[in-house]
Amino acid sequence: MGKILGLRVQNYGPLKDIKMGHTHADKNSKPLDDLVAIIGPSGTGKSSFADVFDFISDCLNSNIETACDSNNRGGYSQLVSQGASCDMQFEICYRENNNSQPITYELTIGPDNINRPCVISERLRQSVDNREYVLTFLSLVDGKGFAYIGNEGGQDDETGNAVGEKIEIELSDTKKLGIVTLGEFKQYERINKFLRFLKSCFLCYFSPASARQVQTTAPAPYLNRIGSNLNNVAQYMYRENPKKFAEVLSEIQDKIPNITRIAPKEMPNKQIVLEFYQKGFEKPFYSNRMSDGTLKLFAYYMLMNENNPRQLVFIEEPENGLYHQYLSDLAIDLANSVGTGFSKQIFVTTHSPFFVNALRPDQIWVLEKDKTGFSVIKNATDYDFVKEMVEEGAYLGDLWNSKFFG
Ligand SMILES: Nc1ncnc2c1ncn2[C@@H]1O[C@H](COP(=O)(O)OP(=O)(O)O)[C@@H](O)[C@H]1O
Ligand SMILES: [Mg+2]
Repeated sequence: MGKILGLRVQNYGPLKDIKMGHTHADKNSKPLDDLVAIIGPSGTGKSSFADVFDFISDCLNSNIETACDSNNRGGYSQLVSQGASCDMQFEICYRENNNSQPITYELTIGPDNINRPCVISERLRQSVDNREYVLTFLSLVDGKGFAYIGNEGGQDDETGNAVGEKIEIELSDTKKLGIVTLGEFKQYERINKFLRFLKSCFLCYFSPASARQVQTTAPAPYLNRIGSNLNNVAQYMYRENPKKFAEVLSEIQDKIPNITRIAPKEMPNKQIVLEFYQKGFEKPFYSNRMSDGTLKLFAYYMLMNENNPRQLVFIEEPENGLYHQYLSDLAIDLANSVGTGFSKQIFVTTHSPFFVNALRPDQIWVLEKDKTGFSVIKNATDYDFVKEMVEEGAYLGDLWNSKFFG
């Protein structure tokens, strides 16, 4: 479980210093919504923002240097904001559930003495007694520091008061995140939960071309980032609960125009192929013959219907390849799919006013470049009159299109 209440990113490419929602230093700001849409002209840092999540995920799965080199990032020297006078910093404020207090994770990455990127520091702290004070329960600088065991406790940095069992830590490798090493131990309960939360974040770059490829038969519980295992996910859902899968398919077929029925068909090798019945045609079509838009919508609705959904789903430009009239329904369905509370959070980047039309001002974050060339971010409610105009019935995407903001 868990959801992000706020974020701060410093010195990550064009994101020299952006802050959204509720952070440690800005406790009075409203937490991020369950649906967060990032908009802005090309080159303002939307993909870089999505890549922050991917970068952190790469740091969890490999090491800092490999993460800096992967995914066309070009290594630390190209990735850090040009002219930056200090290291890259990330702050994630998150909450595990309604009964827990917010936790802030701060991570600093910078060059070592021979310019290899490594973890400079990591810290986890948690508000206590309704944010009266804050206890640090993990602090590592150059791989050395301490962690507190259990689900509560830590030390108050201002008074030095400490509660709970403190363990001195020294890591052997500062290219790896301490939360990965310590999060594997159950006794560091909060680190373990936070690590699980971060690991369940999913970035979706769905590519219809990949979804058309014939796959092996292995059932897969989750869609991968390009959606090439769409049929495997269908196979998994069918195997685990055929009745529920039939319900999901019938719900999805209503959302996809001109599709009258989607049916799973089991091949002799046990692979599932999906038959798409289309208005006017007697025989079904298979996914290799379906349009990009149909496959995309199908993948998004499968994503929304995942069993044990991933906690945080990030979709880059869902509008690509989709007819504009489907976008407002898609936005509404995505917003509804997060439900209430802590089951799921969705981040999207978008260029589409049609998508934005379906959202509320507090869900929209606008990236722009300031005169130094770096990105700044503002919530749509920070613009004069936007909230008032929406309350009077104006659509947010239309206001954006008419340059009332952004
Ligand atoms: N290290 C860096 N320092 C500053 N700006 C950078 C750095 N690396 C890339 N950029 C800038 O980031 C921008 C690309 O951002 P991107 O996230 O792809 O934008 P968008 O997705 O909104 O189109 C380019 O304008 C590029 O100049
Ligand atoms: Mg982009």
